[in-house]
Amino acid sequence: MNPTLEKWVAEIAAHTHADRVHWCDGSEAENRRLTAEMVQAGTFIPLNEKLYPGSYYSRSHASDVARTEHLTFICSKSKDDAGPNNNWMDPAAARTRLNQQFAGCMKGRTMYVVPYCMGPLGSKLSKIGIEITDSPYVVANMRIMTRMGKAALDQLGASTDFCRGVHSLGQLDPETRIIAHFPESREIWSFGSGYGGNALLGKKCFALRIASVQGRDEMWLAEHMLILGLESPTGQVTYMAAAFPSACGKTNLAMLVPPERFKGWKVWTVGDDIAWMRVGKDGRLWAINPEAGFFGVAPGTSSKTNPNAMQMVKKNTIFTNVALTDDLCPWWEGIDGPVPAHAKDWRGQDWKPNGPDKAAHPNSRFTVPAQNCAGLSPKFEDPEGVPISAIIFGGRRAKTAPLVYESRSWNHGVFVGASMASETTAAAIGAVGVVRRDPMAMLPFCGYNMGDYFGHWVKMGKNLTQPPKIFHVNWFKTGADGKFLWPGFGDNLRVLQWILARVEGRGEGQDTAIGAIPTPGAVDMGGLNLADHSVQELLEVNRAHWQEEAAGIGEHFAKFGARLPAEMAQELAALKSRLG
Ligand code: GTP
Ligand code: SPV
Ligand code: MN
Repeated sequence: MNPTLEKWVAEIAAHTHADRVHWCDGSEAENRRLTAEMVQAGTFIPLNEKLYPGSYYSRSHASDVARTEHLTFICSKSKDDAGPNNNWMDPAAARTRLNQQFAGCMKGRTMYVVPYCMGPLGSKLSKIGIEITDSPYVVANMRIMTRMGKAALDQLGASTDFCRGVHSLGQLDPETRIIAHFPESREIWSFGSGYGGNALLGKKCFALRIASVQGRDEMWLAEHMLILGLESPTGQVTYMAAAFPSACGKTNLAMLVPPERFKGWKVWTVGDDIAWMRVGKDGRLWAINPEAGFFGVAPGTSSKTNPNAMQMVKKNTIFTNVALTDDLCPWWEGIDGPVPAHAKDWRGQDWKPNGPDKAAHPNSRFTVPAQNCAGLSPKFEDPEGVPISAIIFGGRRAKTAPLVYESRSWNHGVFVGASMASETTAAAIGAVGVVRRDPMAMLPFCGYNMGDYFGHWVKMGKNLTQPPKIFHVNWFKTGADGKFLWPGFGDNLRVLQWILARVEGRGEGQDTAIGAIPTPGAVDMGGLNLADHSVQELLEVNRAHWQEEAAGIGEHFAKFGARLPAEMAQELAALKSRLG
């Protein structure tokens, strides 16, 4: 009984001319019914019941396979509040357009009301959202990715404090596609896409774009970060959060399995994509993962790179835009085992090896409940979250950024995050492999002016009496042959070990202009057989490259004008002077 909610749902049903309204309770029975309907309609193909029980295969429209940043808008009252980092649309103009597009758009369709909770049920840090959608695929995914259904509705009670989201597939026409956010009224309107971050409104739209604004107003942080617990052989667990841009390694790092030689080390997964963090009574930074599942990149996932993920997707998983083998198994580039002689590709077309086309779309994904993950942290449901000792920024940089370095202070760490750059990936529509500034991996997800956002980070630091140390990593540096210098994946543990040592005040580091890098031997390289020159290259801080970098950061910062905090300008000036 929530009159505000019921009135709003009735209004949307009337406006969209939905044939039926179904309130989702999240139950097994409801899921079975919806799944059967989707199989009937061809939206879902049941996978091999022996090898992938309870799992389904799905293809999205071929023009609808990734986030569309150019069609994503922040409709704040003032354009300046959206900032140079967002596409802005005047809220009145946006409402006019949305009203037209949504009028009658659910005629002949069922309108699902999806109540969901971001964060552990009962946690003071959790928030409720309601997504209205005409896509049963969205309902099935939201059921995995969030605490969805009756429990969320019970938690909401009669409160009017919920994020309103309205989503329609429309005709899946890229011409009418729009993902609009109204940060002041905590509303999301998404039309014309059924894919991932465009359609699962709890994820990027609410938990990052809207929540970042709430975090600004309420003094906390909503970040595009994984959360992991690093257990050392003494049994002590240290929590770290890491922000890498889309498809740059969060899921893989969050589920890392240490190489054989590191007995007694273990990584516990708390989250793989989003962290909500606030200052605890103890002056430390505490983080929860608002999600309940993983929407992970499939290509490249194998029992070598991510054995935890390979195991967890063996049941109750939805695969989207991977390839489908003749024996009804999901397949993608980089998966274990032999390449099939024939498969249906992500478009549904016949596929054979050695042709020009990939079988799986590079942004194909699995949707899987967190509970399937063997390394899921026992703190996953903890309403208080976990205390963060290290924040790690990182990206894909073929050159410039060394394997790892540590910032000099909180504000310098904020500067390192604010000046981050990375090569673009297939997670968003557009060119791939182009270096762009992606501050804190939040460029597509910060719901307000990033100048203010950097200032918010600086303020957060003032409230932290025991702030985490801030690091930067780069798994993607390449050598002269164009190949990755660093083996990555499980071997990233070696870098986490150095970070842990620095947090504990025992790791050996040497000062450079950009921060502290490991002294020779401080990162355990045993058994890697890396050539000396590769190790040198990995840890190199090249003055000329960094002078160029500093100039690029200056141009990037200039875009924020008067909204750039003085602290960031000071850090840039200090970097330039250290570079000489
Ligand atoms: P989003 O879900 O888009 O936010 O991505 P993510 O940051 O979780 O990225 P994910 O871990 O799914 O990795 C994306 C791609 O990078 C996959 O193809 C991985 O195989 C690859 N990758 C991840 N970690 C490493 C690494 O350490 N080294 C190399 N070379 N590739 C990696
Ligand atoms: C990302 O693009 O960063 C993702 C996938 O995690 S999506 O949910 O589509 O945003
Ligand atoms: Mn992401």
